[in-house]
Amino acid sequence: MGIQPIMRAALSVHNLYAQQHYSLKETPYPKIMSTQKPEQISGKDQQIIDFRNALGSFTTGITIVTAVGRDGQKIGMTANSFNSVSLDPALVLWSIAKDSSCFEDFMAAKSFAIHILSDEQQELSNRFAKSGADKFADVECLEGLSGVPILPHYSACFQCSLEHQYEGGDHIILVGKVLEFVDNGHNPLVFYRGQYSAI
Ligand SMILES: Cc1cc2nc3c(=O)[nH]c(=O)nc-3n(C[C@H](O)[C@H](O)[C@H](O)COP(=O)(O)O)c2cc1C
Repeated sequence: MGIQPIMRAALSVHNLYAQQHYSLKETPYPKIMSTQKPEQISGKDQQIIDFRNALGSFTTGITIVTAVGRDGQKIGMTANSFNSVSLDPALVLWSIAKDSSCFEDFMAAKSFAIHILSDEQQELSNRFAKSGADKFADVECLEGLSGVPILPHYSACFQCSLEHQYEGGDHIILVGKVLEFVDNGHNPLVFYRGQYSAI
């Protein structure tokens, strides 16, 4: 069945609006402070919020990426920028914001592990998204290749050696060569428009 006429009309209005109001030509974008009141949000900040919201319409899974930091400490962060790149050689990617507190540690790490979270790991996702939190407290990790911490109960895990780092605006794109992987086949944790979901 085709799109209902009313829906088609709504879409074309939206597209017109998008052409007029969502052109992102100027860079760099200022950082949006979470403390800003609606009346303090500038036009450009609003553009970034609109852009981020539009990107949120792309449904993803959730991963936690772990590695060993420069001082030998465990580091990790929640990331939904994960994607597959190549089957042969086996390559995957994710991107890290340059203003993350663990940014320099991840930049220096030659190995990392990407855990695809199951639908029972929402709490862990929240914990690893929180800056300053003791992310690994009470989490029993195994030691993976090059000592990289491996979290329990994941749906799938890819242990990688760093293959490339690419400039990506306010992020750096990390490409990993998959050395080992495990697929437990659990139901995934899903992220859509800023909310967790399930399938
Ligand atoms: C669902 C979700 C997905 C996220 N994806 C990413 C990502 O792909 N890259 C990134 O740099 N930050 C991402 N973040 C934010 C980081 O998890 C967060 O900034 C980081 O863990 C903060 O900790 P840190 O200060 O120790 O780096 C995401 C957060 C959430 C909740």
